[in-house]
Formats: sequence, structure tokens, C-alpha cells
Amino acid sequence: MKLGIIGAGNMGGAFYKGLAEKLGHEDLYLCDKHNEKMAAIGAKNFYNEPGEMLEKVDAVLIAVKPQAFDELIRQTGAGALTTKLLISMMAAVPIAKISAATDSARVVRIMPNLGVQVGKGVTGWVASNSATEEDQRYVQHMLEAVGEAVQVDDEDGLDRLSVITGCGPAYFFYLTELLTKKARTLGFSEDDARKMAEGTYIGSAALLAAGAEGANDGAAGAAHASRDAEAWRRAVCSKGGVTERAIATFEEHGMEKILNAGVDAALKRSDEMKKM
Ligand SMILES: NC(=O)c1ccc[n+]([C@@H]2O[C@H](COP(=O)([O-])OP(=O)(O)OC[C@H]3O[C@@H](n4cnc5c(N)ncnc54)[C@H](OP(=O)(O)O)[C@@H]3O)[C@@H](O)[C@H]2O)c1
Repeated sequence: MKLGIIGAGNMGGAFYKGLAEKLGHEDLYLCDKHNEKMAAIGAKNFYNEPGEMLEKVDAVLIAVKPQAFDELIRQTGAGALTTKLLISMMAAVPIAKISAATDSARVVRIMPNLGVQVGKGVTGWVASNSATEEDQRYVQHMLEAVGEAVQVDDEDGLDRLSVITGCGPAYFFYLTELLTKKARTLGFSEDDARKMAEGTYIGSAALLAAGAEGANDGAAGAAHASRDAEAWRRAVCSKGGVTERAIATFEEHGMEKILNAGVDAALKRSDEMKKM
């Protein structure tokens, strides 16, 4: 399938790079108003306007801001998109609106997160009833080029996924900030405190990734095989030791309750915003 990406910003650009790296440039096209953005990404087949590109592609990844969608449709004319598989990453723009504006029934909504910028994203997706099996296989395959892909049953599922994967990077960065601040209060310099907190979490994420990937890498891989977060945590908490005391204190102070309340509040806000 030939794919044209409209929008070479943070997200469209990250998808282009990830897809070109994993699947090659041949079936990949890019369109953005700004040549310099497309040049910076190393795009090979690129256009300033969607018209000519749309003649060449079977599927279109819409990576413009939601408020730019109406202008895009005016520019292309709805008919130019009707026969394409449309994959939209526009937040909060429902499948029904995209279908109505383009007359295309084959619409897939995706919700990527920040990690796609380093090829380690988690992207949720949901397909309209008219998207074929082949369309769906293509979307899963395409998304796996920039990380993990999770199919959800309906568009509400994308909202529920978003408060985990979309907001999740902020939860992680927040914890890193708090640990950095705590290191400062224990007498470390700003530089050292950052090095300690960031380095610790980067190393931990790499261990978690090694566990998720299983025993593919010889002895080190075997040692890490199938370890999930809980298994790694238990490995760090020696019985009666200092880490175990820290975790017990987090639990006594309701850490799980606090996290759940934050995620629930995010979901409530997402519902409120849909009604605005
Ligand atoms: N950023 C995230 O973490 C995230 C997460 C999930 C979903 N999303 C969704 O991803 C989409 C893209 O976000 P982004 O942050 O990558 O946006 P962005 O950086 O603003 O990139 C969009 C690019 O598309 C260009 N563009 C707009 N209309 C165009 C047209 N008709 N023809 C050609 N180029 C056009 C824009 O140019 P101008 O700037 O000149 O308009 C800009 O270069 C949004 O819909 C957002 O909701 C983003």
C-alpha cells in the first residue's frame, strides 16, 4: 500500500522517519507547507500541496492539527480522499466527522504518544466498520514501525487508552522531577541530582524493555526474560531491606489511590472536553 502523510510536524515527521527506517522510502510520500521540515526529515517523495500526492497513494495519514482539517478539505476537495484509506491522528475529531467531510467510509483513528519520536511509541487505534481486514492489517503493521500498537473496540476506548499512554509520559516525567528534588534535599548538586534520577529511570526502563523482549540476547537476555515491572520491583526489594521499607511507606500513604485518582481525573477532563 502506498501511504501519503499530510503534515510533517512533531508527529507526522516522527511517523515518516520511523516508517522510512523500517519499511523504506519507496511507498512513502510526505506533504507539508514547509519544505525545510520535510528536508530535515530526509523525505524523498515530498510535496507542498496534497493534490498531486493524493493521485499516487492508497492510504493517507492525516497528521495536521484538528483546526487545520477544514482548510485541508477545502484545499483537496472532498472527492480526492473518498477512495482512500484515511488514517487520522487528529485528537478529538471523530470518525463520523472525517467520513462526512471526505465521503470515505474507510477511516481509522489512531492515538499515538510521545514515544513515536524515538520509535518507541504506543499507539491506540480503532477502525470504522467499513475498513477492510487488509486495511486493518496495514494499520497494525504501520504502527508497529514506530513502537507498539493497541487496537480498541470503539472511540471511547481511545479516550481510555489516552489517559494511560498519552498522559503516561507526563506521569513518568513528574516522578523523575520529584526524585530529582528529593536528591537535592539529600545534599546533591542540581547536576548530580538530575543525573541520578534520570539515569536511574532510563536504566530501569531499559531493564523493563529487556524483560519484555525475553531471552533473545544470550545470558543477559536469559536473566531478564519475561520480567515485568512487578518482578523487577521484587528483585530490587530485598526482604527487610531499605527499598522494601520505601515501597511499604508509599503503600501506607496511598500511592496507588493517588495514581488512580489522577488517571480518573484525566478521563473526566477528557469527557468534559468532548462536550465543549
Ligand atoms: N503532539 C502530540 O503529542 C500528539 C499526540 C497525539 C495526537 N496528536 C495529533 O497529531 C496531529 C499533529 O500534531 P503535531 O504536533 O505534529 O502538529 P504540527 O507540529 O503543527 O504539524 C502539522 C504540520 O502540518 C502542516 N499543515 C497543516 N495543514 C496543512 C496542509 N493543508 N497541507 C500541508 N501541510 C499542512 C503544518 O503547517 P503550519 O504549521 O504552517 O500549519 C505543520 O507543519 C494533531 O492533530 C494532534 O492532535 C499529537
